[in-house]
Amino acid sequence: MATTIQTETRPMTEEADFLQIKSVDHVHFYVGNAKHAMYYWWKAFGFKPIAYSGLETGNRDFASYVLESGQARFVVSAPYSPSSALASHHLVHGDGVKMIALEVEDVEKAWKETTARGGKSGWTPREEKDDFGIYRTSAIYTYGETLHVFIDRGDYKGVFAPTYKPIKYEAESTGLAAIDHMVGNVQLGKMNTWVNFYHQVMGFRQLLHFDDKDISTEYSALMSKVMQNGNGRVKFPINEPAEGKRKSQIEEYLDYYLSPGVQHVAIITGDILKTVDTLRSRGVEFLRVPDTYYEALPDRVGKIKEDMKAVHELGILVDRDDEGYLLQIFTRPIQDRPTMFVEVIQRHGAKGFGKGNFKALFESIEVEQERRGNL
Ligand code: FE2
Repeated sequence: MATTIQTETRPMTEEADFLQIKSVDHVHFYVGNAKHAMYYWWKAFGFKPIAYSGLETGNRDFASYVLESGQARFVVSAPYSPSSALASHHLVHGDGVKMIALEVEDVEKAWKETTARGGKSGWTPREEKDDFGIYRTSAIYTYGETLHVFIDRGDYKGVFAPTYKPIKYEAESTGLAAIDHMVGNVQLGKMNTWVNFYHQVMGFRQLLHFDDKDISTEYSALMSKVMQNGNGRVKFPINEPAEGKRKSQIEEYLDYYLSPGVQHVAIITGDILKTVDTLRSRGVEFLRVPDTYYEALPDRVGKIKEDMKAVHELGILVDRDDEGYLLQIFTRPIQDRPTMFVEVIQRHGAKGFGKGNFKALFESIEVEQERRGNL
């Protein structure tokens, strides 16, 4: 088994962590039909719709809904006309994550520092004003056409952003509490380019490294490095495909998204058994590993608080590292194209990403790739 290298566990200096990101502000999806996407996150995942922007609010370009579950905030937007920039993006990529928005103190400084270090500008610092104050943003590109938007909400008291109006929908939570990490898929040979981008342009440091010996099956392989910001709240693993006998899941993603992009968003829950049971009852589809996985599990992870029978029945995966254990499960792709999916994760001390589950998981992904004619 290849080694997992933990680099630099000491806290970063303020200078190295020049962006001083407070948290992930929101994740913005471009979709074909925002009303349907809103309904999916609302009724299936239990997110509460809190704001709307569209024709009725003076937004003549796109329809948009903001939803929240705990601290996790998602935005789904769809264009009104083929001339919209959202339409051309959607035509190429289908549904997917366009923006990962990060809350900072100073959007001008964030933009200047990152572009001076080689980041490509998405947009220059801008102020949008309405009755609720000043909403400040700037943006730079990361992999593919994905943007990191810097947001300063210090002088803004509105529900989300200018043109967005509050909406009141009742939602039944599934217990999803916050974003744990977001993974990007990049092309063969490009992982280190993007690792360097997060290090040099964004001031992140490398937390973990997995090579193709950690993550390989009979058919395919991938490599992954995990980048983390100064306060540890923002974690961005980067995957690239590795040589294998058949097409890797990363290549399948790239073939259908037609560029690098966000592969999955992992959301934390405090009670994964309850969350997954509810999600399943609402029609969310998860990947299944073979039953043999559960025969070996007690020996591999030792004692856990959760009922092993329930864990097996729900198809939840478990992994242990030096600091504790974690439970995780992955949905099937959440749109027609085999691109983005969601991970639900519960941590009991473990800070890793489920390395012990990679092989079983990727074999089950390959069963699905085979069904799609893409292996
Ligand atoms: Fe993950």
